[in-house]
Amino acid sequence: MGNVIKISPSILSADFSKLGSEVISLEKAGADYIHIDVMDGHFVPNLTIGPEVIKKLRPLTQKTFDVHLMISPVDNFIKDFANAGADIITFHPEATKDTLNTIELIRKENKKVGISLKPKSKIDLIEKYLDKIDLVLIMSVEPGFGGQEFMPEVLEKTRKVKEIINKKNLSVDIEIDGGINFKNCTLAKQAGANILVSGSTIFKENKGDLKKNIEILRKN
Ligand code: DX5
Ligand code: ZN
Repeated sequence: MGNVIKISPSILSADFSKLGSEVISLEKAGADYIHIDVMDGHFVPNLTIGPEVIKKLRPLTQKTFDVHLMISPVDNFIKDFANAGADIITFHPEATKDTLNTIELIRKENKKVGISLKPKSKIDLIEKYLDKIDLVLIMSVEPGFGGQEFMPEVLEKTRKVKEIINKKNLSVDIEIDGGINFKNCTLAKQAGANILVSGSTIFKENKGDLKKNIEILRKN
């Protein structure tokens, strides 16, 4: 929490045939977290990876595994992701019948709790839980795919969330996810985000120079 910016590269844009070495490269390139997008083909129209893959990646790095669950219903999988080595477990409130219960399930595993808002999801979905969570993940694209265009309308929501967090004097991180590039990362930071997720920009800009791309996102 605070003004220090953290960069959480999304391995959704990595080469899945060599995920292990990609994660090691991200660590060497200065990533703060490793963002892992978990999709179920039901909550979102795409399928990615599950706990078994995370378990295999876990011994390769000490970096924080920032696990973004886009699966519904989410509760039955919390334990599996915790055991696989997730450090932060983020879920969508639309993917559970009882948000408070899901928060408690994650807490019981001694993991950090994140709640994510899709671009059209309202702040009221999370407001009353802010004192019980560690992180708000603001989606700046519709969840499901990498490489989409950033939706600037979520900046207003980011400012609002930051304002509420400050007013309540809480230390909750704000992470922004989707379409982040070298330009809009500045706007996201100004709006209050202190963790930036990025897939395409980190893996594809400057011929895939991960270190350079992470540095630019951090500094811009
Ligand atoms: C989308 C995912 C994001 C996204 C990031 O559902 O949550 O993590 O893939 O990738 P880019 O930076 O390419 O939008
Ligand atoms: Zn994500």
